[in-house]
Amino acid sequence: MVLVARPLTLSSGMTLENRVVKAAMEEQLAGTGQQPDERIERLYRRWGAGGAGLLITGHVMVDRRALAQPGDIVLDRASDLAAFRRWVSAAAPTPLWMQINHPGRVVLRDTGALALAPSATRVDIGTLSSFYPTPKPMTGADIDTVIERFATTAGLAQDAGFAGVEIHAAHGYLLSQFLSPLVNRRDDEWGGTLHNRARLLLRIVDAVHDRVKPGFGIAVKLNSADFQRGGFDVDDAGRVIEWLEGRVDFVELSGGSVEALATAGHTADDRTLEREAYFLDLAARLVDRTAVPLMLTGGIRRATVAERVIERGFALVGVATALAQHPELPQRWLAGEDAPVAPPRSALPSKLMRAAAVQAAVTGRLHALGHGKDCSP
Ligand SMILES: Cc1cc2nc3c(=O)[nH]c(=O)nc-3n(C[C@H](O)[C@H](O)[C@H](O)COP(=O)(O)O)c2cc1C
Repeated sequence: MVLVARPLTLSSGMTLENRVVKAAMEEQLAGTGQQPDERIERLYRRWGAGGAGLLITGHVMVDRRALAQPGDIVLDRASDLAAFRRWVSAAAPTPLWMQINHPGRVVLRDTGALALAPSATRVDIGTLSSFYPTPKPMTGADIDTVIERFATTAGLAQDAGFAGVEIHAAHGYLLSQFLSPLVNRRDDEWGGTLHNRARLLLRIVDAVHDRVKPGFGIAVKLNSADFQRGGFDVDDAGRVIEWLEGRVDFVELSGGSVEALATAGHTADDRTLEREAYFLDLAARLVDRTAVPLMLTGGIRRATVAERVIERGFALVGVATALAQHPELPQRWLAGEDAPVAPPRSALPSKLMRAAAVQAAVTGRLHALGHGKDCSP
């Protein structure tokens, strides 16, 4: 049997039928009231029938005043749970987990969204920095509210039938901003030492635990590194994973942020981008140090690479872009086909523009699938 075809029982008690996980991709398909509608259902019907062992939604916002993108879905007390239940049904029989997120300072200035952050440090991406506002440093009350919002969204996700949540602490969003010594300049209990910087994530994990009933999955998506000099690095990731031991079903490892583009699979240097499973060497250092099941995501586009990831000790393989291109890819991998998928490319002159173009093309593909159009990937 191929390694990715082996079932995995998680600490929360649920068994995944295989090791291939559809990683989070922000769909930007919110309908009225930032709710999911029939386009999301159509999209997840494809993935639900595609053979993955687990589907993780694109990030769902915990605060409707703070959206990373105008098309982001929100789940809060004002949401209609029936729309979220239909989302879960569309994905069946594959279990669906909701990724929950707060963007912190990564909101577009022109949208007027609330920009919160550990400190008043603005996103620095050169001439394009002006797209982002200078964020408001969070007060103790703001922090308590954010913890409560994550717990509320997780509880509502369980009520709607989701089988788990993944707390997004990667890619430069709020929880990753707290973890980063470059963004988090606080000198109170929420800043300074790594343990202080991780406090918000750990408190949210605990608050989610307390809110949900047993049997509900909890995972964290964490950067294996931010790829910024002086930023959150692989040793920091190792220690945070240690603190998460016993509290989560698995930790998904990714990398980068809006300031150092490994986000969405576009690493800062193009040679790395050409490589498959490009965080493997870095993240493999963590596998040997922890008993927490780890999931590796980034650049996995064919079965032989997925097999190598499991062989190296990862519990799960996360696939995003290739599953937008071919929603039924896991079925082919499980049947023993290598089924390689070529990465989307852009010839634009700057790294930032290339990354934006590829991201837009993948989002376009999700929208086409959501409209029932299966045009060429
Ligand atoms: C269109 C698009 C949207 C994404 N949205 C999210 C998201 O909402 N949350 C998240 O954690 N990662 C997001 N990602 C990153 C993916 O989960 C994944 O970490 C990254 O694309 C690398 O994996 P891949 O090479 O298989 O695409 C997104 C990626 C793409 C291409």
